[in-house]
Amino acid sequence: MTTQANSNQVPEGCAFVIFGATGDLTHRLVIPALYNLAEANLLPEKFCVVGVTRKEMSSDDLRDSLMQGLRKYATRPVDDKVADQLLYCVTAVSADPSEPASFERLRERLEKLEANRNTGGNRLFYLATPPDAFAPIATELGRAGLLKETSGAWRRLVVEKPFGTDLASAKALNDHLLSIISEHELYRIDHYLGKETVQNILVLRFSNGMFEPIWNREHIDHIQITVEEKLGVGHRGSFYDKTGALRDMVPNHLFQLLSLVAMEPPAHFNAHAVRSAKADVLAAIQIQTEEEALRNSVRGQYTSGKIGDTDIPDYRSAKDVAADSTTETFAALTLSIDNWRWAGVPFYLRTGKALSGKRTEVAIKFKEAPFSMFRCTPVQELSQNFLVIGIEPVEGISLQFNTKVPGPMIAIDGVEMTFRYKDYFKVAPSNGYETLLHDCMIGDNILFQRADGVEAGWRAVQPFLDAWKKAGAHGLQIYRAGSDGPEDADELLGRDGRNWRKPT
Ligand code: BG6
Repeated sequence: MTTQANSNQVPEGCAFVIFGATGDLTHRLVIPALYNLAEANLLPEKFCVVGVTRKEMSSDDLRDSLMQGLRKYATRPVDDKVADQLLYCVTAVSADPSEPASFERLRERLEKLEANRNTGGNRLFYLATPPDAFAPIATELGRAGLLKETSGAWRRLVVEKPFGTDLASAKALNDHLLSIISEHELYRIDHYLGKETVQNILVLRFSNGMFEPIWNREHIDHIQITVEEKLGVGHRGSFYDKTGALRDMVPNHLFQLLSLVAMEPPAHFNAHAVRSAKADVLAAIQIQTEEEALRNSVRGQYTSGKIGDTDIPDYRSAKDVAADSTTETFAALTLSIDNWRWAGVPFYLRTGKALSGKRTEVAIKFKEAPFSMFRCTPVQELSQNFLVIGIEPVEGISLQFNTKVPGPMIAIDGVEMTFRYKDYFKVAPSNGYETLLHDCMIGDNILFQRADGVEAGWRAVQPFLDAWKKAGAHGLQIYRAGSDGPEDADELLGRDGRNWRKPT
C-alpha cells in the first residue's frame, strides 16, 4: 500500500515492457493507469514503454491503437498533451516464446532504447497475456538474460491472477517462476488489493484502538463476505466455462478480503510482515474433507431471466459454453479458521454472476446482548449489530445498532451510522490500477500476493473443487438470472440459525 511517505514518490528511470501489448488488459487497464500516473507527474522522466507483440507491428500502429483504447477506457478526461507525451515513449517490438531468437532481438532493442532514454537499465516486465503464457515468457526472458540484475539495476516481473487453476498448478507455476526470478522481484497482481476500500480494511482495524479488542470470537458471531455481480458471463465463455465462480473469485479476491479482515496485527507496516500475517491466516483455514465440503457449500448456475430491462440468456446458451455445462456461476461456502482468535466463528462466503444487484461487502455480525432486558416490552426482536465494510458500489463503512424510538413507550428500532467516501472526501476511490503500477515501479510489494499465500488459498478450496468435480450435475442448483441466487444458499446459513444480510 502506498503510504503517505511514498505516494508522491516519482519512480527511478525504467523500461516498462508490456507483453500482450495489443490485448484487452493493456488497452482497458494498463495504459489508462499509466496515463493517470503521467497526469499526476508520477512517471519517471527517464522512461520508455516497450509494447511486445507476437506479430510484427509498427510503433505508429501500436500507438494509434493504444490511443483509441485510452479514449474509450480512461477513468478521467484525456488531456491530449499528456497522452501524446506518454505514447511518444511507446515502441513496438515483436517477440514470441516459441521463437527463442526473438528474445535475443528484444534484448538488443531494449538495450538501445535504454541507452537513448537513459533509463539506467531498470526493467519491469508486465505480462498482460493469458496465464498459460506466463511460464514460457518467463523462461525465455530468463534464457536471454533479461531478468538478471546487473550493476545495481533492478528487474521485476508482473503477472496477474489467475495464478494456477488448482493447488498443483499454482505450486508448479510458483516453482517455475521462482527458479528464474526471486520472490521480491515477482509482483502478483490481484486487482482487489488496489481498491482503496480494500486497503482501508487494514487502516480501519489497525489505526483505531477501539475495534481490535472486540475483533475476536468473544464478540463476533460470524462474518459474511459477499461479491455479487449483475453481469452474466458475456463474451468470456471460453475462459469462464473452464473456470467457474469458485476458481475465478474465491482463492483470490474473496480470500484477500478474508485475510485482511481475519489476520493478526502485523508488527510492522512492510511487505514481509503484512504478507506473512495474511499467509498465516489463510494457512489456518480448516481443510475440509470432500464430504464436509459438499455439506458446507452450495453451487448454482443461472438460467435465463431479466435484470432491470435487460433479458439475460441462459448460461448454457452463452458463446463458447458447453450445452451441458455443469460449471457453477454461483458459489457459497462456509469456512472455519483454526486459531485462537476465530475458533467457532463461521466465515460465510458467496459470489455469483447474473444476480439482482452488484454488491461487494464484508459484514461483521457481533454477538447479541447477553440477556434481553426488553423482553417484557413490546420489543420482540432486536435488530442485528452488523459492521458493514462496503467495497463497491457503496464505498464506505456502516454500523448498525438499536436505538429507542422517541415517545412514551419503549420501542426500539435498528439504525445505521454511516461513512461514505464520496461524501467525506468528495472523491470516488479509483479502481486502483495506478496504485499497483506505481508500487511495482517504486518496488513496494506490500499489495502483491506471495507464493505461500497463493498456495494456502488453493489448499483451502481444493476439497470443494474435487468434491464438485466428482458430483458433476448432482447438487448443481439452477437459479434465475436477476434473482438472489439459489435458495439453498439461504439454507446454508439458515441451518445455523443465521441469515445473509439484506442491503438496507
Ligand atoms: C475478475 C474476474 O478477476 O474480477 C471477473 O475474472 C469478475 O469474473 C471481476 O467479474 C470482478 O471484479 P470487480 O472489481 O468488478 O469486483
